[in-house]
Amino acid sequence: MTSTAPERTSGNAAADDAGLPVLRDFGGGAFGIYVHVPFCATRCGYCDFNTYTAGELGSSSSPESWFEALRGEFATAAAQFDALPSATPAVETVFVGGGTPSLLGGDGLAGVLDAIRENFTLAPGAEVTTESNPESTSPEFFERIRAAGYTRVSLGMQSAAQHVLKILDRTHTPGRAVAAAREAREAGFEHVNLDLIYGTPGETDADLDASLDAVLSAGVDHVSAYSLIVEDGTALARRVRRGELPAPDDDVLAARYERIDSRLEAAGLHWYEVSNWAASDAGRCRHNLGYWDGGDWLGAGPGAHSHVGGTRWWNVKHPARYADRVATGVLPAAGWESLTAEERYTERVMLTVRLRTGLPLEDLDPAGRRAADRVIADGLAELTGDRLVLTDRGRLLADGVVRDLLS
Ligand SMILES: C[S@@+](CC[C@H](N)C(=O)[O-])C[C@H]1O[C@@H](n2cnc3c(N)ncnc32)[C@H](O)[C@@H]1O
Ligand code: SF4
Repeated sequence: MTSTAPERTSGNAAADDAGLPVLRDFGGGAFGIYVHVPFCATRCGYCDFNTYTAGELGSSSSPESWFEALRGEFATAAAQFDALPSATPAVETVFVGGGTPSLLGGDGLAGVLDAIRENFTLAPGAEVTTESNPESTSPEFFERIRAAGYTRVSLGMQSAAQHVLKILDRTHTPGRAVAAAREAREAGFEHVNLDLIYGTPGETDADLDASLDAVLSAGVDHVSAYSLIVEDGTALARRVRRGELPAPDDDVLAARYERIDSRLEAAGLHWYEVSNWAASDAGRCRHNLGYWDGGDWLGAGPGAHSHVGGTRWWNVKHPARYADRVATGVLPAAGWESLTAEERYTERVMLTVRLRTGLPLEDLDPAGRRAADRVIADGLAELTGDRLVLTDRGRLLADGVVRDLLS
């Protein structure tokens, strides 16, 4: 869920006639590739990701035209990277997200990885993840993508309660996500994630417990759990505004988070980022760790964001306009910006403090260190060696801690 974000409107607008954005060099950290698949069978009422149903796209775009454009973007990006002072690093992680990548089918996802291999070098032991929706997977699908080189699968489960899935507009049955996770494991995937959403209107403590029972019965080595965010402009936001559904309650969300954490920890899944738990270090999502650690990545596909050596750009969102831009032979950026030292500092504090490994005190400026003392005195963080690490209570108030450290 941290893999794409809405198209930004600040920064520089990319000129149509120039090979913008301006890249200086790689930053020296891990290098990854994110691929955005902008297709969904139906739109979930809570989701504001850059994704489209076939009806919304009409004849303007299709998985075939998207794939053609994606290959063009890879070739353009690879050529731009070749012109940088440092050699393009081997790709340590690939993350195919969406949207619904499993709608491409096993052959389609194999084609995406082949296209990456044609333009970049995959590092030995690279992590290659695809998100998948439970209802568009099968044993044959998992076998195909495992054989193609995928190493990790992330499934959107959200809940095991039928009435909660209905509020969320999910089209799979409560049992399908767990069955899909088992099929993935049987196909040879050691690393399988299930995504949960908690705090949906109408969800009870018993519903959450049933979801956790289901997750733990699936034998996965990673769980992501996000509180339901009511995003502006979504069908869910309209229903909340009309009073048809109550907004998620902060106290309920905090109690649910504590319940999730204690049950996952008891089952041997340990938090390594505020919303993410893994059974071992090897089970952590290396791709997301790259984002959180300030690494470099190419984000390919409509609306995807990239970051290379302090230059950040974001692609045009609509698949048809994206393909048009790629066809002109430049990066399909809608805009770009060069991060200032202050912006880099803010990002580093925001992302690193949410990790279990914590924020090195030496990374904080004098005002940040004074704020860290206050946060520690308030019991929201503690020092582990010279790193500031959130306490259990601090994880519930992580956004507030970030605000304090940056104020
Ligand atoms: C955008 S989806 C893409 C993968 C796939 N289509 C799926 O639904 O699982 C990635 C994750 O983001 C979660 N997500 C999207 N919008 C959300 C929101 N408003 N609040 C909490 N989680 C959200 C999804 O439920 C999903 O688990
Ligand atoms: S299936 Fe996933 S990406 Fe598609 S609308 Fe639902 S949450 Fe969003």
